[in-house]
This record gives sequence, structure tokens and C-alpha cells, in this order.
Amino acid sequence: MKVGRYNYAHQLGTDIEPLIADLRAMLVGGRYELTPEVKQFEAQLAEFLGARYIRGVNTGTDALVVALRALGIGPGDQVVTQANTFHATVGAIDLVGAEPVLVDVDPDTFLIDKRQLRDAIGSKTRALMPVHLYGKPTPMAEIVALAEARGLFVIEDAAQAIGARIEGQSVGTFGHFGCFSFHPSKNLAAAGDGGAVVARNAELDEALRRQRELGQVGQNNHVVVGFNTKLDALQAKILSWKLPRLEEWNEYRRKVAGWYRERLAGLPLGFQARTEGETHVYHLFQVRTRERDSLLAHLRARDVDVVVRYPTPIHLQPAFAAKGWKAGQFPVAERLARELLCLPIRPDIGIDEIDYVTDCIHEFFQNVAVG
Ligand SMILES: Cc1ncc(COP(=O)(O)O)c(C=O)c1O
Repeated sequence: MKVGRYNYAHQLGTDIEPLIADLRAMLVGGRYELTPEVKQFEAQLAEFLGARYIRGVNTGTDALVVALRALGIGPGDQVVTQANTFHATVGAIDLVGAEPVLVDVDPDTFLIDKRQLRDAIGSKTRALMPVHLYGKPTPMAEIVALAEARGLFVIEDAAQAIGARIEGQSVGTFGHFGCFSFHPSKNLAAAGDGGAVVARNAELDEALRRQRELGQVGQNNHVVVGFNTKLDALQAKILSWKLPRLEEWNEYRRKVAGWYRERLAGLPLGFQARTEGETHVYHLFQVRTRERDSLLAHLRARDVDVVVRYPTPIHLQPAFAAKGWKAGQFPVAERLARELLCLPIRPDIGIDEIDYVTDCIHEFFQNVAVG
């Protein structure tokens, strides 16, 4: 059996003719930029998240960049985030000219270590940027309270966590800005790149809009220097088509995670710890083992599409060599980079596929991983 990580045809549904007809009409009608389709998707997403202010942008990376810029964060400022995340989180801070300050993560939840986050705040700190990693919500109440007490901004990197909630409240709606990605790998995927930013209030939303649209207020009137990063209308249409089924897909991902946990219980494997009151959306389902590399080879040899996210932690990436971060500085992030493996999780994965993957893992621990 072959077990894949993605099935894009499934996400589009069985009858895609109405979508194709709409896309055709948009193509020939020249409806490309900030059209009603974009506004419709923004409104739909706002309703889904329980948010009021949403702007579609080109990518999740741009979402972070324009959020930082909208807060006036740049050279001389520090932003605190975590050492185990995707490059874009830290790259965005660097791209606006600010200094990323990394902290380690909790070994059980794999999310930002709150004590270290507090200790990392200094006189130059302007913002905290927690990441809802793998689709698990970072507990936000304490972070928001800490930021308020210290006069800091909070930007949530929710790129991996659309639909994740804490006590019913969507991630991305706790901070000053919440940033989402619609990269094809994500739970809600565009047919290419896409992203969105949730703003806490109208003023921040307008600052964000200006950053998205070349600083424009009315035609030919540029009041600040901004980017040009608007969600494509065609992508917005595709996202609108898929969004109504996202809740069902996320629910199924939670079931799959439960099945994996059940079937793998008793093996020498770790999992991302669960937290009371959270709604995890399992963008990734990670297992943790010292035998990671041999388990990966074992599963790939059996046609199971497993992958490592991310084998080199941020502080050891060549792109950040000039920052002076050292091996050993963030030991939990380094261990996770060595020990985590993503098992296939898709909204259409069959129970037979899960049985096959978990049988292969049992086989590995019985026969292969000796000594
Ligand atoms: C945690 C995190 N932040 C930011 C991004 C950037 O999103 P994008 O690829 O849409 O630029 C991603 C995804 O790729 C991500 O996983």
C-alpha cells in the first residue's frame, strides 16, 4: 500500500464544474485584483474565525511582514519568538530590519516556553510572536497578559493552525495581529500561495491595509511606503470554495490523530502533549523517537510518505549565521529537530491506511529497532 501526505483532488470535491465556471468567468472578465471574490472570502473567513477585520495577502510570510510593518516594527526593535518553527517566522522579523530573539520550547507541547519568553523581554522588545505549531494552539491568555503588562504587541503566527481554538476562541484573534497561510500544504490550501491577516481593531486593520496596498489612501496618494501583497482573486475564489468544508476536515484530522495515538500506545514514541480546552487542528501529526532516521527509512521503504519538519532548527540555519546563535543554545528545539517525524495526515486518509502505517511502525519496533 502507498500512503501519501496530500490529496488535492479530494479537497476540491467531486463536482468542480461550478468552480471552474466561476474561474473561467473571472479569467475572461479580467476580475483579478481586490475583486468582490476577495472581499467575499475575507468576509467568509472572518465569520469562520469569529473575527471582524481580515485582509487577504499573497503568502503567510507576507502576512507576518505586513503585520510587523503595520506596527512600525523595524531597525532597533526586537521581536521574541521560538527556535523551532518554520524559517518564515524568523525570516519575517529579519526582513523588516528588526532583531529576532529566540527562546527554546517546551519539551512536551513543543510550543514556546513561557518562562523563557518572559525572561527574553528587554528594553528593545516591541513584540512577542508565538507560533501555533503543527496546529496546536499556544495558550494565549498568559502571553497577552504579559504583553499588556510590558506594553508589547502580540503577533500570532497561525500559519499552521487555521480553525484551532482555545475554549472556543479561534487562534489568530488573541493578539494585535494573527497571520495565516494558504500554502498548498496547509489545512486550507490555495492552488498556489495565499495568506491572510486578522487585525484586532479598525485602526490596526487600516495600517495593515496600507502595508498591503503600497501605502495608498485613494488613487495616487501614497501616505506611507507599503508592500504590494494582495490575495489573488482567483485564489480567493478557490479558498471560498473549500472553506465551508474546513471544519469537517479539521474534525477528521483530530480523529486521525486519536487513531494514531491509540494504535501506537505502548510503543517507545512520544506525542505532542494535549492541553485542556484546546481544539488542535493537526496540520502535522508528529511522533517523537530517538530512532527517527531509521524509522523514517523503514516507513519510506514501505511507501509511507513520512517527512521531517524541520531537521535543522532556525538558529543553526546558514541564513542566520550572522546572528551568532550557537549549537546547544536551544537544546529542546535541537532534540525535537533530531527526533520528530510527521506521519501522513489528510482529511481523506482511510482507516486502512492508518492501520498500515501503524502496523509498519509496530513492525519497526519489534524487528528493526533493537539495541
Ligand atoms: C509557522 C509558519 N509560519 C509562516 C509560514 C509562511 O507561510 P507561507 O509559506 O504561506 O509564506 C509557514 C508556512 O509555510 C509556517 O509553517
